[in-house]
Amino acid sequence: MMPRLSIQLIFATWILPFVLGQNLLEIYKAMMADQASRAKTPPINIEFFGESLCPDTTRYFRNHIMPVWTSLQASSTINITYHPFGLASCRRSAETGIRCNCQHGPAECQLNMLQACVISTLQVPQLYLPIVNCMQGKNKFSSAVDDCIVNFRPRPDLDENFMARCAQSQLGAKLMMQHGYRQKEVASELDWVPWILINGRRSQAAENQLKTIVCQFSETSKQEYCKTQEELIF
Ligand SMILES: *[C@@H]1O[C@H](CO)[C@@H](O)[C@H](O)[C@H]1NC(C)=O
Repeated sequence: MMPRLSIQLIFATWILPFVLGQNLLEIYKAMMADQASRAKTPPINIEFFGESLCPDTTRYFRNHIMPVWTSLQASSTINITYHPFGLASCRRSAETGIRCNCQHGPAECQLNMLQACVISTLQVPQLYLPIVNCMQGKNKFSSAVDDCIVNFRPRPDLDENFMARCAQSQLGAKLMMQHGYRQKEVASELDWVPWILINGRRSQAAENQLKTIVCQFSETSKQEYCKTQEELIF
């Protein structure tokens, strides 16, 4: 198991980005870095944790994350990162490799892993969020792949076969486990999802009024989006 895993990881880290269009990714990163350096203040960091088959996480993506992201991402005032893990657990053993259990069963682990593979491949939230959002809540693995990669095609360089294989292999498990490590590091008391950190601190208020919370910062309050009416609270 282990040597094979290492080869897969080397593939993911060094070869895959190259195959999938390193140029595009590099251009995009340079663009974001340039935007960030021109912005006078660092972005508001929104880091959140959820589960692919959890209805509350799905609602959070649709009603809070995506509207805020769509409206503010171009202004470079926010930085949203997502971790598919939540109330899951993973164990590693010599015989079986990495095995994970998810709150909503094996189908959730599969979908979390698919999201983790997309996140790892595209790296930049601006690139991965629409795809991860599309996959969120899908009952069937195959429709997550078909609807969110094959038909949606938000990225011409994202390969559906590699993503599916990644999600169903030790690489997917390893990538999901890494989200678990991050969660343990910055949200160790998590007992509920979605769990939201704003600039590193948990914000319970952001669970049902993300826009209001984000628009309280001076960087965002001048944005047109923040001048419009309050969001629905649910
Ligand atoms: C965005 O957030 C991630 C995770 O918190 C962090 O690693 C990254 O440095 C942040 N980017 C910026 C430009 O602040």
